[in-house]
Amino acid sequence: MQLSDKKATLSFSDGSPSIEFPVYQGTVGPDVIDIRKLYGQSGMFTYDPGFMSTASCESGITYIDGDKGELLYRGYPIDQLAQKCDFLDICYLILNGELPNETQKAEFDSNVTHHTMVNEQLHFFLRGFRRDAHPMAVLTGLVGALSAFYHDSTDITNPHHRHVSAIRLIAKMPTLVAMAYKYSQGQPFIYPQNDLSYTGNFLRMMFATPCEEYKVNEVVERALDRIFILHADHEQNASTSTVRLCGSSGTNPFAAIAAGVGCLWGPAHGGANEACLQMLEELQANGGVAKVGEFMEKVKDKNSGVRLMGFGHRVYKNYDPRAKLMQETCKEVLSALGLENDPLFKLAMELERIALEDQYFVDRKLYPNVDFYSGIVQRAIGIPTSLFTAIFALARTVGWIAQWSEMLSDPDYKIGRPRQLYTGAQTRDVPSNRG
Ligand code: CMC
Repeated sequence: MQLSDKKATLSFSDGSPSIEFPVYQGTVGPDVIDIRKLYGQSGMFTYDPGFMSTASCESGITYIDGDKGELLYRGYPIDQLAQKCDFLDICYLILNGELPNETQKAEFDSNVTHHTMVNEQLHFFLRGFRRDAHPMAVLTGLVGALSAFYHDSTDITNPHHRHVSAIRLIAKMPTLVAMAYKYSQGQPFIYPQNDLSYTGNFLRMMFATPCEEYKVNEVVERALDRIFILHADHEQNASTSTVRLCGSSGTNPFAAIAAGVGCLWGPAHGGANEACLQMLEELQANGGVAKVGEFMEKVKDKNSGVRLMGFGHRVYKNYDPRAKLMQETCKEVLSALGLENDPLFKLAMELERIALEDQYFVDRKLYPNVDFYSGIVQRAIGIPTSLFTAIFALARTVGWIAQWSEMLSDPDYKIGRPRQLYTGAQTRDVPSNRG
């Protein structure tokens, strides 16, 4: 970051002396006021509970311009990356800062491919769960458990350990997600197959059985690969900030990523894709397109507690560029699978049409986000609704691990320790009659 010529001055209405703060510039986007010395100089904290105006770190990985609806990974626009790269190109880019050349790509792909198997003991660990456990509960446990299985890559001060743990996490997530699914179905686990692509291998581990050959459908493979690309990183969102905060204590990467998985599960974050599809299915069962108007009235009524899932975003105040690409993929997949008349897709399009014209949504700048169409794509390719957020976690793992690694390399990095505005009881004595 670069020091700006500009300075920020904080003045007080009670005559206390004003304080000057340095301002730093990034490459694009808002400047930041460096308030690290505020408490020392004034005895006051800043107050920003939802991080509405707070940059929690310096980062060179992902950039979002919410007003323009722009998303860049390492400077490259998401639509160009989605059209020209596969998911492992994106992983390499996010981790290393540049797209791989041919040799680097072949080496990286082979490295990831040769780490996809998991320690056989993990099968027994998984068997401790109920078969009807939610896949995100299982995944939180499995990812946390990796630190018990791979001690040889948990020394965060060792760059080789950090590299190996990154590769292991990216490589093993599809295996763990597919295992969680197979377990819920009471089917045998399918081992990874090294001559398939990252995404093709995941599809096979999900849908093959030992009884017959499984052929990867290229359209489905491309669509799922795109879902992975679109979810790979997203700046300092809730789960990424969780991974950074958890990792800031010096814990091992598997523990930090398990914390991210837990955070992602919530319906305001990664859980929105599952919630969005459930909303569409419920609306379809209760009258479909004919009832959209009535449903929208409920969404706009603050007392109903109903939100249009897959709509709105803290940062995007314009169309989420990922939603545009996801809508395109949705059309492609439905047409390739002969599902052009899918009623849920029609319903989603109608909801979007009405929302984009409605003053409630216009005034609040609410647009479809990535989760609005991703559930329809996943459902079309046979992924059960309860697994949607686990797929998101699989894809976001590279972002989490890159952000964690970037934090550890930052000379300004300290354990994250927010403060508070205390509004509880003042010091008081325990009553004398309590012994
Ligand atoms: N449906 C109806 N009203 C909404 C919605 C929605 N989906 N989203 C926001 N609003 C209204 C909200 O009621 C508020 O209105 P008012 O100003 O009158 O009180 C206004 O818009 C601002 O909302 P907010 O909750 O203060 O905004 P936020 O930035 O804190 O929340 C959000 C962002 C994503 C949590 C929220 O838009 C939401 O709950 N959306 C639905 C869940 C969803 O799709 N989440 C996925 C996010 S993208 C994937 C990811 O990154 O995980």
